[in-house]
Amino acid sequence: MRLIETIEELKQWVSENKATGAGIGLVPTMGFLHEGHMKLVETAKRENDVVLMSIFVNPAQFGPNEDFERYPRDMERDQELAQTAGADAIFAPSAGEIYPRESAIVISAGRLADQLCGKSRPGHFDGVLKVVTKLFHLSEADRAYFGQKDAQQLAIIESLVEDFNFPLEIRRVETVREPDGLAKSSRNIYLTGQERAEAPHLKKALEMGKQLAIGGMDPIPAMTDYLGENCSGTIDYIQLLSYPDLTENVTGEAILALAVQFEKARLIDNLLFTIKGN
Ligand code: PAF
Repeated sequence: MRLIETIEELKQWVSENKATGAGIGLVPTMGFLHEGHMKLVETAKRENDVVLMSIFVNPAQFGPNEDFERYPRDMERDQELAQTAGADAIFAPSAGEIYPRESAIVISAGRLADQLCGKSRPGHFDGVLKVVTKLFHLSEADRAYFGQKDAQQLAIIESLVEDFNFPLEIRRVETVREPDGLAKSSRNIYLTGQERAEAPHLKKALEMGKQLAIGGMDPIPAMTDYLGENCSGTIDYIQLLSYPDLTENVTGEAILALAVQFEKARLIDNLLFTIKGN
């Protein structure tokens, strides 16, 4: 597996692969890999000739009071895991390599960032779009792989690609969970023992809410009560929206999503399902 740190080297790797006609799958990550990332690579490996994983903790998507500095990093371990999962190359640039100068251009997620995480993380999705735009262009990937746990991110990236004719396909990959239902996340290591014991209630609340929503009822009051009784964290949001357009007119494909702020970890989770119209 090749470790690539500069754009020049990446262009070289891409042109070598394009010359042989190889299809390129891109798995963008911020590192500190877990089974969710491994599943992205394994899926990419089945569908492409070569797989490029990017590992870059993107400063543009962190707010001033967020965890950019203390976001977990372990490049040595990440390289081993990426190789085991089947990645052919890792692109791990420095911030100066990716953002050599302050750009005057802003790519905005617009109204798709008005809901869910976008409400409490202003500018976060604009920062995600800034880096994925660069990664899509630099990698010349045929397909890029994103997990459904970050469902709002996925919807926004799908919209970018569709609305602006990016020449690649976005592939959705199902959330990977611990045996007790907790969605895998690099931020789970911030949980205290007590919080880790409470965290599976997020998925349980979603399952309960899903049944209520499918039955035509408002799931939010019951979920709020359930989480209030079973979790010490503070609920940031619980929302039922259409998916992937994230409007409040919910029939057809829907997302039920929540975010809970524990002492040091903000956990998000969601379920996607169908609500039949009347
Ligand atoms: O989901 C992530 O890890 C990041 O938001 C992404 C897509 C790699 C962009 O930095």
